[in-house]
Amino acid sequence: MVSVDRSLFVFNTLALFRSYRLFQISLSLSLSTMAKEPVRVLVTGAAGQIGYALVPMIARGVMLGADQPVILHMLDIPPAAEALNGVKMELVDAAFPLLKGVVATTDAIEACTGVNIAVMVGGFPRKEGMERKDVMSKNVAIYKSQASALEKHAAANCKVLVVANPANTNALILKEFAPSIPEKNITCLTRLDHNRALGQVSERLNVPVSDVKNVIIWGNHSSTQYPDVNHATVTTSAGEKPVRQLVADDEWLHGDFISTVQQRGAAIIKARKLSSALSAASSACDHIRDWVLGTPEGTWVSMGVYSDGSYNVPAGLIYSFPVTCCNGDWTIVQGLAIDDLSRKKLDLTAEELTEEKALAYSCLT
Ligand SMILES: NC(=O)c1ccc[n+]([C@@H]2O[C@H](COP(=O)([O-])OP(=O)(O)OC[C@H]3O[C@@H](n4cnc5c(N)ncnc54)[C@H](O)[C@@H]3O)[C@@H](O)[C@H]2O)c1
Repeated sequence: MVSVDRSLFVFNTLALFRSYRLFQISLSLSLSTMAKEPVRVLVTGAAGQIGYALVPMIARGVMLGADQPVILHMLDIPPAAEALNGVKMELVDAAFPLLKGVVATTDAIEACTGVNIAVMVGGFPRKEGMERKDVMSKNVAIYKSQASALEKHAAANCKVLVVANPANTNALILKEFAPSIPEKNITCLTRLDHNRALGQVSERLNVPVSDVKNVIIWGNHSSTQYPDVNHATVTTSAGEKPVRQLVADDEWLHGDFISTVQQRGAAIIKARKLSSALSAASSACDHIRDWVLGTPEGTWVSMGVYSDGSYNVPAGLIYSFPVTCCNGDWTIVQGLAIDDLSRKKLDLTAEELTEEKALAYSCLT
């Protein structure tokens, strides 16, 4: 009798355990197939060439992941409305499974309403014969008014990436005129310069670019930026090695390497007769992806962020620093040694940004 009871007990326990496992498996299956809520991503200047390269990347999951549905909000100005509608038609025709909706508009309020991420690509380009102040003044006006639209209508905690030039100063103006958006949420793109630096090292050493990490772009997204390899490494079969040691050519690192990265945009315009677009779009995706999903352990990236005075960079500029990202927040990497040559270059690009800031403010009055 006792042994029958015991085997019944064992049988029932096993059955219970099995049904619990089945419940666990079916729960995890249904959770993994349960669609996430779509994220609304704004792209301004979406009818332009970066916009045209960027929106399909976002719709394919390159920016936010292969399981993240998106709704694209595209803004451009009235003369580009027809072209913008053409981009919308192509997005529909591409039948992207992750794309749950498209808003294509010339109305900034409609474009900004409810967006979780804003990629600001639209801006006024410098035309022949124009003074720097005239271009600045046009962009200050654009970024002031779009800041208000974002502040009033974007979703809470919206993350902003400014791509349009002058990117750092446009981002600063946007920050000034959207005071309720946390300053940590307003950034500008220097990831393209960062990726260019990785690319130059990879070509020089003939190693895969994915094995190179921790270059830094300091400062402005302009030709005064400082591409720094002093802390960069390459993963080799014998472990991580410093780039400086592997390259073993300081003349190249201090000369052609820096000028090639600084002047890469101009070299592309010369070759293509158009400015960089696919690399800019891809880097914008990298910037947002790492910001939202996090940087890999032991790796940092370059982002234009609001300076808190780290590395004696004047506070109150949008300046490119090395950052790590975790849980949707970036943190400036602290404690890196800065040699005398680097110090001068960090200060030079900060001076340019300080001048740009003064010019931008003079356009406001
Ligand atoms: N930060 C970087 O790394 C980086 C790299 C490459 C280019 N850029 C800059 O990105 C910007 C866009 O480049 P592009 O090649 O796509 O230029 P583009 O001229 O092809 O496109 C710009 C688009 O912006 C639109 N636009 C103009 N004013 C607008 C406004 N007020 N609101 C919304 N849209 C507006 C234009 O109609 C156009 O469709 C430029 O300022 C360029 O200098 C930055």
